[in-house]
Amino acid sequence: MNSRKLRKKFLDFFAARDHRIIPSSSLVPDDPTLLLTAAGMVQFKKVFSGEKKVDYARAATIQKCVRTTDIERVGETARHLTFFEMLGNFSFGDYYKRESIKWAWELITDDLKVDKDRLYITIYQDDDESFAIWHEEMGIHEDRIFRMTEKDNFWSAGPTGPCGPCSEILYDQGENVGCGRPGCKIGCECDRFLEIWNLVFTEFDRDEEGNLHALPRKNIDTGMGLERIAAVMQDVPTVFDTDLFKPIIRVVSKVSGVRLGESGKSDVSIRIIADHARAAAFLIGDGVVPSNEGRGYVLRRLIRRAIRHGRLLGVDEPFFVKVIGAVLETMEDAYRELAEHADYIRQTAEKEEERFLSTLRQGLIIIEEVIEELMSEKATTVPGEVVFRLYDTYGFPVDLTREIALENGLSIAEEEFEKLMEEQRRLSRAKQRFVEADGWAGDASKEIYRDVLEEYGKSDFVGHEVDEVETTIKAIIRGNAILTEADEGEEVELVFEKTPFYAEKGGQIGDRGVIETAGARAEIVDTQEYAPKLISHRGKVVTGKLKMGEQVRAKVDVGRRQAIRRAHTATHVLHWALRLVLGEHAKQAGSLVEPDRLRFDFTHFSALSEDEIKKVERLVNEKVFEHHAVRAYITSLEFAKESGAVALFGEKYGEFVRVVEVGNFSRELCGGSHLGNTSEIGLVKILTEASIGANTRRIEALCGMRAYEYFSGQDATVSELAVILKSDKAALFDRVNVLLSTVRSQEQELLKLQESARKSRVSDLVSSARSINGAQVVLERVEAPDMESLRSYVDLLREKLPSSVVLLASESHGRVLLVAGATSDLVKAGVHAGDLLKKVAPLVGGGGGGRPDMAQAGGKHPEKIAAALEEAWAEIKTMLEIGDEERRPRATGHTPKTTR
Ligand code: SER
Repeated sequence: MNSRKLRKKFLDFFAARDHRIIPSSSLVPDDPTLLLTAAGMVQFKKVFSGEKKVDYARAATIQKCVRTTDIERVGETARHLTFFEMLGNFSFGDYYKRESIKWAWELITDDLKVDKDRLYITIYQDDDESFAIWHEEMGIHEDRIFRMTEKDNFWSAGPTGPCGPCSEILYDQGENVGCGRPGCKIGCECDRFLEIWNLVFTEFDRDEEGNLHALPRKNIDTGMGLERIAAVMQDVPTVFDTDLFKPIIRVVSKVSGVRLGESGKSDVSIRIIADHARAAAFLIGDGVVPSNEGRGYVLRRLIRRAIRHGRLLGVDEPFFVKVIGAVLETMEDAYRELAEHADYIRQTAEKEEERFLSTLRQGLIIIEEVIEELMSEKATTVPGEVVFRLYDTYGFPVDLTREIALENGLSIAEEEFEKLMEEQRRLSRAKQRFVEADGWAGDASKEIYRDVLEEYGKSDFVGHEVDEVETTIKAIIRGNAILTEADEGEEVELVFEKTPFYAEKGGQIGDRGVIETAGARAEIVDTQEYAPKLISHRGKVVTGKLKMGEQVRAKVDVGRRQAIRRAHTATHVLHWALRLVLGEHAKQAGSLVEPDRLRFDFTHFSALSEDEIKKVERLVNEKVFEHHAVRAYITSLEFAKESGAVALFGEKYGEFVRVVEVGNFSRELCGGSHLGNTSEIGLVKILTEASIGANTRRIEALCGMRAYEYFSGQDATVSELAVILKSDKAALFDRVNVLLSTVRSQEQELLKLQESARKSRVSDLVSSARSINGAQVVLERVEAPDMESLRSYVDLLREKLPSSVVLLASESHGRVLLVAGATSDLVKAGVHAGDLLKKVAPLVGGGGGGRPDMAQAGGKHPEKIAAALEEAWAEIKTMLEIGDEERRPRATGHTPKTTR
């Protein structure tokens, strides 16, 4: 039975028993406590705990899962995988142990017809209820039911959350498959007893302290590994021999030239590559991008490990993307998301492979040298400093260094390495602008803010409601001092009771504006929040005097703020459009929101095409014109996440958050300033799109007035061009085309004229040749703009005059160009073009030289050209006459004697 039929059989079986078929959820769980989806129950965690209600009480799924806990065993055993498909049925307070056991047994033994004599059962040590069901109701002999401890038969998805005792169905693959040790029995780590189905009786919730609390209802969570049951059904010894893996392994063998069965070691590598390629393809398909942290790191590590095993098989070329291709072909029927993102998945894998290969090349050279040296010194450990340098400077993965060291019988100095890592972490933390949890900004770590906060308390920000407000000056700060007043002309920082000024945060820059009293006025140029709710307004008193405790009117520069709002709302719309066009992986990685100008950084692996940029820009503008309301509200973090609000990765949020909603298409957690409606944005124009690092791109765009100004500037340019080109704007294209074709035909014409001028000049030069001893000598001044054209004259003359010496000079930009040439017979006769120039170039204030048959030189006195040519004549005569005499003795040397 192939795996396609197996999947269907499973779902049909449970659908017939009133289970709702739910699609697999993403490998990226909607759960901050989990890195990856590692089980079918992950998407139902909240349903189990009672926090979430669904309108069905039974469900069945085929869930894609990634588990890295057993990564070291993948390939070593017949059954471990990082990526697998879990066939699961679930009950939410509906049926319990009896039905789940009965149905599992029925499906396996009746429908799939697995040989009962090969099946064994495990239960949790004191679960007498399950024992009774298995033994009395299912008729399993008690010798085949094993009671196991918490380690084996109590299941939980993580340190906290829903969990419970479980019961497993195991399949005996036969003695020859196992370790063969005398004590080999259920629970042995070897491959003999294959766990195929785990039935979890989810009745508890574990809290942070590890205490178990009864859940409001008892639930069922089962999981059967598709790959394992496929191996049983297809009667093959390992999951790698099933139809799920065969086409992938075929490609691994093809690219490496190594087949399964050649050696234990190469088998492991082949299996690792196939497994990791499956995991990588699915992770990328779910929006994970290779990086150095979190999920991105898991993905990177899987890809790198696979590539490294490729190298162990002797593959030095990029190959991984081909294996990914095989995964896509094998799996895309069952998982549409793979087909949809196929190109993206391939490209991301390819990029990562390229990057890693170049890292490897550098790192391997170094590590091999180090290991060689250590071995010759009979050392047993690779120093932590070496491991750290490889990691820090070359990006060489530590696990790889460890593996290579191990292969050579060395270990790495883990402790020393950890120390260095810790030191580096400490340094980079110190560099961060925000100092740890209390939120003090680094560049404002001045004690003064602490004092102000302690002494005068926090300020209230009221800028989401109003643009100006009556308030009181709490403190005036200058440098490290708190002042009681600020005089005209002074630059100070002001802190108010409450303020409408937005302090720079979340990419949105700080507000500007004015502070007024009856007799004074200060202009605020920047607003910063140096500690939570310590809002500092930096500015200058332009008239009068401001006093502490004084009542003032604080007014934000409304025009500027409105332009900032335009850019901020536009940023959200852009984020939405990018995800729509590029995929869910295109997530915000940073932003800058200024008046009518924005910069948006996001994760994506390659440059956007012209087409993609156009599409994004059009979508954004459509949303502008469609006139969508923008709403902001405060809600619990939980509700916000549930409603699908986009949170920034790695950002810490409190219990209550502000959600900004644009129409019904964008929902983000955001504390910034926004418009009431998208139409106020006016217009959006994307200016640039570029890379700013691995897998991170940046878009810069204008909106509102600045977008208008941009277009109006472009229009002005077009108008000016029309005037210059004596056309009107509408006809500009035609006009330019006509002009271009005129220019082209004139260029042709010119070339022809030049060619004929050159020909006639050459024939003039030929007739100017003087004969000496049967040789023709041409010494002339010509019009040539550069050395190249001068050389071509010389070449032509040498062709036309088969026994000749030529020296041509020209003047270009006030400088002298000289080129000399001689035909080979004359070179034999003693003429040397290089020596000729060495002699005459000094006369025009230059130097140069070259080969006997061709040489060139420059000079700076054009007025001396005639004299130089004169001298050349004398020189050539000498060469020819002396050369005649010296022909024999010079046969061994090449420097002609040029003295007279
Ligand atoms: N959650 C259990 C497991 O992963 C059963 O589905 O094994």
